[in-house]
Amino acid sequence: MNVQDLIDLRDNALGEVRAAQDAAGLEAVRIAYLGRKGLLPKIMEELRNVDPGERPLFGKTANELKNAVAEGIKARQGELAGGTGDGPGFDPTQPGRWPGLGTRHPITQITDRIVQIFQTLGFTVADGPDIETVWNNFDALNTPPDHPSRDEQDTFYLDNGDLMRCHTSPVQVRHMMAHPPPVRIISPGRCYRRDTPDATHSANFHQVEGLYVDENVSLADLKGTLSYFARELMGPDVKVRFRPHFFPFTEPSVEVDFTCHVCHGKGCRVCKNSGWIEILGAGMVDPNVFDAVGYDKAKVTGFAFGMGIERITMILYGIHDIRNLYENDVRFLNQF
Ligand code: DAH
Repeated sequence: MNVQDLIDLRDNALGEVRAAQDAAGLEAVRIAYLGRKGLLPKIMEELRNVDPGERPLFGKTANELKNAVAEGIKARQGELAGGTGDGPGFDPTQPGRWPGLGTRHPITQITDRIVQIFQTLGFTVADGPDIETVWNNFDALNTPPDHPSRDEQDTFYLDNGDLMRCHTSPVQVRHMMAHPPPVRIISPGRCYRRDTPDATHSANFHQVEGLYVDENVSLADLKGTLSYFARELMGPDVKVRFRPHFFPFTEPSVEVDFTCHVCHGKGCRVCKNSGWIEILGAGMVDPNVFDAVGYDKAKVTGFAFGMGIERITMILYGIHDIRNLYENDVRFLNQF
């Protein structure tokens, strides 16, 4: 036997490997060549009889033969298992597997939608921190010292006397202190209240704040702006109702209802037969707030509004429990 015999042998072996049609056939080839009583051990024994000059090359070629056959068998195993030979189990004719695509959280979707609507009216986004001073959150917003929202039962206070903001309204204060009029801002963000979680309450929720201050801004501007917002958000048929209300930072103050999106005002379970759904609070900025931030209350007027994003999201998507929005169960989130 010489080196050329080995090369021929390798080609034969690889031919047989490729010809094997199933695992059993392949195993038979493996035993015939690489098995304990197979051809390769015999060849190794043959090494002794090879001419000493040719021995190193013969040994090397025999080794290569062994490796080539072993590799060929492995590749063929992969092919027979439905792969290309690069690894078992890969079948290029199978349709691809779709990697799970994420979706934007419903709160984020509705926030973006609300912000986008006000941006078309020239409002720009303003931001403020979650940790606020008592002054920004209450005092500057004309909240009397004995107002119940200041209570430790309602608001989270920090050891240094600051607090977790309980609404996005302090962004109004920050923005007016930093910018002379006119201002026209929209500000989404997180808020915190000492509420026990249930189907409609969460200790951490989201609001969007709006503020427009200029010369001659009137309640009619407020009504026009919020009516436009209602139609953009709910569709052209929605009706809007303004009810007198009270907020410390606006005078006059209103609560704004939209016609029920389910029954369109006829009355149903969702709107408790009233035909209306309460959506937001608003009003004309109280002159005391202008005093606090250093605006000239004789020169400018303005309107402000604030709305809960969870509430609007739940109404628009028919979600009955606010906790669904925080559990981050992908089976829930994937529906939006
Ligand atoms: N801050 C109020 C709240 O948390 C919402 C609100 C009402 C904001 C009237 C305003 C406003 O800017 O004018 O319930």
